[in-house]
Amino acid sequence: MRFFIDTADLDQIKEARDLGVLDGVTTNPSLMAKSGITGAKNIEDHYKTIASIVDGDVSAEVIATDYEGIVREGEYLASLAPNIVVKVPMIKDGIKAIGYFSENGIKTNCTLVFSAGQAILAAKAGATYISPFVGRVDDINWDGIALIQEIAELYAIQMYETEILAASIRSSKHIIDAAKAGADIATCPLSTINGLFKHPLTDIGLAQFLADHKKSNG
Ligand code: G3P
Repeated sequence: MRFFIDTADLDQIKEARDLGVLDGVTTNPSLMAKSGITGAKNIEDHYKTIASIVDGDVSAEVIATDYEGIVREGEYLASLAPNIVVKVPMIKDGIKAIGYFSENGIKTNCTLVFSAGQAILAAKAGATYISPFVGRVDDINWDGIALIQEIAELYAIQMYETEILAASIRSSKHIIDAAKAGADIATCPLSTINGLFKHPLTDIGLAQFLADHKKSNG
């Protein structure tokens, strides 16, 4: 399973990249606002900067919700850097636009996916990625990981090429469970990637090794 980082924070993106485990970046308007990136020009420059920091795909989300607007904005975003993927919401005009982008060689990430039916529509439209929101499904007392599993099963049966990008990841356990459920990628906050390192026996074992080395080597 590949790792994307779900943030617009440049320091966090660089930290994950420098670990050598980063395959891409996803952003959304909320994450841009959280990082204090406002105004069309600043947002555009920020996407260019992110795209220059990582080799992998960088999702840039459209704000338009009508077909013509999504196509116009998406084509512009895609022109900013070769690794930009146009992130499009799961709405009727979004699905139509994903069909257009797919026919014109522009990669897409269909976002705000909460059901297997939506996942089928996005795959039929030719989305490169779909983003089922694991944490937000859990938030309403459904099972986000079960949704990933259901989509993975039906994509395998139907041989759809759309990749499953598990989003709204809230914990390191979500990452592991998404991998087991068949997600191709998890897009994660940095804290959840760092959480994968943690085990008390690793810390205890390392302290012991270093202490023993010091004892016998001075
Ligand atoms: O990738 C989608 C993500 O940014 C949403 O996460 O935690 O706001 O549900 P969250």
